[in-house]
Formats: sequence, C-alpha cells, structure tokens
Amino acid sequence: MAEAAVIQSYIDLSDNECEARIARAKAALGSQVVILGHHYQREEVFRFADYSGDSLKLSRRAAASDARYIVFCGVHFMAEVADILSRPEQRAILPDMAAGCAMADMADLAKVERAWRELGEILEPEQEVTPVTYINSAANLKAFCGRHGGIVCTSSNAQAVLKWAFDRREKVLFFPDQHLGRNTGYGMGIPLEEMVVWDFNQPYGGLTREQIQAARMILWQGHCSVHQMFQPVHIDRFLERYPDAKVISHPENSFEVCQKSHYVGSTEYIIKAIREAEPGTRWLVGTELNLVNRLREHYKTEGKSIHFMSPTVCMCSTMFRIDPQHLAWSLENLISGQVVNQIKVPEEEAELARLALTRMLEVSP
Ligand code: 13P
Ligand code: SF4
Repeated sequence: MAEAAVIQSYIDLSDNECEARIARAKAALGSQVVILGHHYQREEVFRFADYSGDSLKLSRRAAASDARYIVFCGVHFMAEVADILSRPEQRAILPDMAAGCAMADMADLAKVERAWRELGEILEPEQEVTPVTYINSAANLKAFCGRHGGIVCTSSNAQAVLKWAFDRREKVLFFPDQHLGRNTGYGMGIPLEEMVVWDFNQPYGGLTREQIQAARMILWQGHCSVHQMFQPVHIDRFLERYPDAKVISHPENSFEVCQKSHYVGSTEYIIKAIREAEPGTRWLVGTELNLVNRLREHYKTEGKSIHFMSPTVCMCSTMFRIDPQHLAWSLENLISGQVVNQIKVPEEEAELARLALTRMLEVSP
C-alpha cells in the first residue's frame, strides 16, 4: 500500500483505538524508543511522553537518551535538535511532517545571509555583531550561528545567552522572535531606543546607517501568532476583577503584555511557578491553551484557579498536528523495522549547528 493510503487507514481510527495501539507498540519497543513531549501537546498524545519539557529540557533529554528511536511529539525544529544532539546511530522521528513552527519559518538562511551582508556594508559583523538564534529556527540558521561565532537560545536561557553574546561583541543580531529578544534585552537594562527591528523584506532591514550603528540589538521582525493573541487589555480587565491574582506570561508575548505581567518565563518556568504557589491562589496565564488547560485540571484540587489570558481559543495549530493516529503509525512502523518521518540534518550543517547548541548548553543555568 502507498504511504498516503497507510496513513489514511490510521486517520480513520478512533482516538481510543489508537491509544490502545500506542500503548501496545510502546510496550513492544521497550527501551528502544523514547517519546519526548512538549508542554503544548494535546492530552491524548502528551500522556504517552516518557519525558515532557520546554525546549531546553527536551534538548537535554534528547542528548542524554540511549534509545535507538527518539520520537518527538513537538515541532520540526525540536526533532532537528534531537537529531543534531543525539548519536549517529539514533533516529529522530517527527510523527507528522506538517508539524512546523510558523515563527521559525519567518527567518530563512537566504534572508539572514542577506542581512549579514548588508550589515557588513556598515559594520564589521565578525567583530561587532554576535548572531543569536532562538531555538525555534531551522538547523541551517543554527549552523549559520555556529559559523559566525554565534549561539542558540531558548526562552529559559535567553538572558545567560545574551550575556555570553555581549561579552564577545558589542551588538547582537537576534532572530527570528523580536519579542523574546526585546523582552530579554530590556530585562538586562538595554533601553528600547537601542533595539531596532530588522524588516527582512526591505533592503538594510528598512533601517538607516545611523540606526544600525547606534543599535545594540537588531531584532528580526518575526513573531509567534499564538502569543500575539494576548493583549494588555486582557490583563487589565482580569486584574480589575481579581486584584490579588498573579499574571504569568511566556516571553514570546509582546513587550506590553510582559511588562504588565508579574512573572515572565518559559513553559517550564510557568509550570514551576504555579506548582510552587500557595494553595488558593489565582493565576492568569499567557501561553498556549493545551498547557493552560492541563495546569487548570492539575491544580484545581489544590484550590488554585488558572485562567487563560485570551477570550478567544488560541492553540498552536502545528503542535496540534501530532495526533494519536500519527503517533500510532510511527510506532507500529518501528516495530516492523520501518523508520518513517525521520528527521535528518545533513552532517556538515549538523556539525556547525551542534557548535552553536553546545555553546548554549554550556552557558545555560
Ligand atoms: P518553551 O521552550 O518555553 O517551551 O517554548 C517553546 C515554544 O515554541 C513556545 O511557543
Ligand atoms: Fe512556534 Fe508559536 Fe507554535 Fe511555539 S506556539 S511552536 S513559537 S508557532
């Protein structure tokens, strides 16, 4: 049967049927397989994860794993990182290839190389600019950073990474998420006037020579559409109603939302803050809905009230692509010795990307 027809036969299965098959396949594969699940995964898939975490924690798990197969329930760049950091004989698998990250796609190698060239007409980038890529980016951009003395960051180590970057060169080119860059830079004392936005659709980012020379951070004009749904007015309205509540946001949110939040941090940070909070506390959470729903369910027995920041439903639609049907399909194929949806980064690229990732892991708290 052609692959599409085989997948179709799984798509037609009910979630319950798939869940039973996933459990059986997992048991049959035993220690040959490890399933990594990002916090934004839907419940029906998340429950099968051997390890869950934010991007940093899952990259460490992938690097430490002994399993022959690393099945990544997350998005494409995460499975690429698993491939880069694992041993050559291990296989990284993404159950559905359509699980990309729209923000990661806002930067590509051609545009970043063009930016580097254009910066080179005004500055000496190799001496003056450290390229920093958010882990939400393609492997070739991580390799670009490896090649040009740069580094990768995640939402939980961005400050330590930026410190590393500024210790080496006076400016940073940060891609693809302008918000993580701005929120972190501001938190380190860099004034907003010293951060400029690089519009990748315009020559020289749409900036003047003077603006580029005066900037400390050059922020790529990328964003996560899921996190742009959260607005400062949602926080104002909530705090009017519950003045004692705490507000916690992911740093992919806008500057205004982060400024109005009591706490800002990665998905793992958000979970820890709520886990360690006093019973009976109330929280407004600005991050993806699957995680917020899970927190709400988990902590209601402790009397903690967890509210989602946006009045509209906003999920990461690409994370949602990983469903029980695709997970069952990937695992059952492994039992019959077939590796489907393997993510393989070409070795030359992987080597440079590994350099930038290793620098990150070394400076991560
Ligand atoms: P974390 O590393 O905080 O889990 O974030 C990953 C992500 O894609 C958030 O949108
Ligand atoms: Fe990418 Fe946003 Fe989804 Fe995170 S939530 S994986 S940044 S699209």
